[in-house]
Amino acid sequence: MYQHVQHYAGDPILSLVETFQNDPRPNKISLAIGIYFDNNGKMPLPNSVLTAEKQIGFGVKSYLPMEGHAGFRTEVAKLILGADNPVLTENRVVVVQTLGGSGALKLGAEFIHRWLPQTKMYVSDPTWDNHRGIFEGAGFEVGSYPYYDANTIGVRFTQMCAFFNTLPENTVVLLHPCCHNPTGVDLSPEQWDTILQIVAERKLIPFMDMAYQGFGGDFDSDAYAIRKAVAMNLPLFASCSFSKNMSQYGQRVGALLVLAPNAAEAELVLGQMKLNVRHIYSSPPAQGGLIAYYVLSNKELLIQWQTEVYEMRDRIRQMRQKLYDVLSRRLPEKDFSYFIKQRGMFSYTGLTVAQVQRLRDEFAIYLLDSGRLCVAGLNDGNIDAVADAMAAVFKT
Ligand code: LMR
Repeated sequence: MYQHVQHYAGDPILSLVETFQNDPRPNKISLAIGIYFDNNGKMPLPNSVLTAEKQIGFGVKSYLPMEGHAGFRTEVAKLILGADNPVLTENRVVVVQTLGGSGALKLGAEFIHRWLPQTKMYVSDPTWDNHRGIFEGAGFEVGSYPYYDANTIGVRFTQMCAFFNTLPENTVVLLHPCCHNPTGVDLSPEQWDTILQIVAERKLIPFMDMAYQGFGGDFDSDAYAIRKAVAMNLPLFASCSFSKNMSQYGQRVGALLVLAPNAAEAELVLGQMKLNVRHIYSSPPAQGGLIAYYVLSNKELLIQWQTEVYEMRDRIRQMRQKLYDVLSRRLPEKDFSYFIKQRGMFSYTGLTVAQVQRLRDEFAIYLLDSGRLCVAGLNDGNIDAVADAMAAVFKT
């Protein structure tokens, strides 16, 4: 009966996690998936989030509305757009609580494909693997725009601008406002200004996926591109996730924001979002949304949480520095300064597929085939082993 069903080869990130779990070698190190681990190699729960969890408790929770918890939606808009953003009082920001950042991307993609006369969209080359799948799944034809420059380990900014300048009206462009996944290479504020000007002139639809707010610069500067797009009144879609910065991975807490031209159109957009939610999963899970709401709406907890996120950010930066120090000592002829320039959890190491394979086979160290390394998986206990192994394979 199911013989005709197409074989699924597996997801490049999640399948590697399974391979890692099945690896019997006791010294194995996973730097594959984007999860923040502390210096003891444990997944920490911020104290602010723990306080919120205790307050909420584990009693029975009723269904949330289709669009999610009202307080959560309000607080998320403040966190992303800035609490005093004038647009918040104009009732034209649609916010939907979603199943993580992936759920937000899916909901936004479905809406655009259904209601705007455009079927082409572009992601950065490279991008998070699932971006392509989610948009193709919603019916888009997905292309890629120039982004990462392997020679400079920077952005091919001139080519990116030139490419955007060829795109027809209503083309969707998926952008990473901070902590680019997978490269760790971000645009500067000046480059954002230039890109968003082109987006405005060509009447493109910017879809900004922000899964790492607080891990790059700070909560405000990481949202620079989103806030600039709002100030320019662009037809913005933004997805966000609390998986990493609140350690809510399994709770699936995220949000989709849409900036509508006015309150009446915002109502129409919200209505279709609700309908789509109802037809797929009825309403989002309550626990994670309540936890995030509790943290974001309580001034003291909010400050405590942001401080805790900055501690995570700083630990990642320390690991970048250590990796740079050790590798520079081992291979002084090579410039590793990109490790300290890149931002967020991920680093494009410049390792080839063959070198990544050697790391896996000979040293039990897991990176993605693309050479992406999750810096947040490094700690004082494993960094020397990782740097030594990387130095060994870089020599080949
Ligand atoms: C990653 O890029 O590793 C994370 O965003 C986790 C995932 O779902 O792929």
